[in-house]
Amino acid sequence: MHGFPLFCIFALTNKTMRIDIITVLPELIEGFLNESILGRAQRKGLVEIHLHNLRDYTTNKWRRVDDYPFGGFAGMVMQCEPIDRCISALTAERHYDEIIFTSPDGEQFTQPMANTLSLCENLIILCGHYKGIDYRIREHLITKEVSIGDYVLTGGELAAAVMADAIVRIIPGAIGDEQSALSDSFQDNLLAAPVYTRPAEYKGWKVPDILLSGNEAKIKEWELSQSIERTKRLRPDLIQKIDK
Ligand code: ADE
Repeated sequence: MHGFPLFCIFALTNKTMRIDIITVLPELIEGFLNESILGRAQRKGLVEIHLHNLRDYTTNKWRRVDDYPFGGFAGMVMQCEPIDRCISALTAERHYDEIIFTSPDGEQFTQPMANTLSLCENLIILCGHYKGIDYRIREHLITKEVSIGDYVLTGGELAAAVMADAIVRIIPGAIGDEQSALSDSFQDNLLAAPVYTRPAEYKGWKVPDILLSGNEAKIKEWELSQSIERTKRLRPDLIQKIDK
């Protein structure tokens, strides 16, 4: 049932991935990135995640990164100079596969996109803020604009954290059992089947008998039928993608 040959591709690529995140609020996501699976993946040397405070790349004494928009529109716009200085400092050191800008008007982030990005060696994620960034940065420096959903966040930090999480967890070795990354919802456009653990009965709520039967073939069959049933019921749009 698992269409995406992650294992085959992973087997060919064993370099340490590097993700550079550019933000005006590094403290907002620092804790998240250093805990749990992301923290462990970094300690194991599977990935390096570097946070860069955009204010460190300003040349004015107030460390301002934004200014009023031309045209008299409302809000503030992030200026070209600090972003350009930060990205230039990074690209002078190494080649980046993608320079990503988080924005609600970007391409929708999906599991296939996470799979593709997890195979990259070096990524920059620039977190948007305020009303946006000077469009010239998007035209000249950004290679990919990504949205995590059709809603507007106060900044791109949560989007960057979501992307880093989804990308890093599928690097081989990041989670204990790679097979479980393969059986995630969305890897094959099917939602995952329900899972249960001990006790087999709790407050009269029973685990399906089939899971206690020991019959592996029947259990696999049950798992697939559950996946299909849940996807049809909860995400009929995904079933249509399989049919195509
Ligand atoms: N910045 C603000 N909203 C966002 C979204 N939905 N996705 C990515 N970046 C964003």
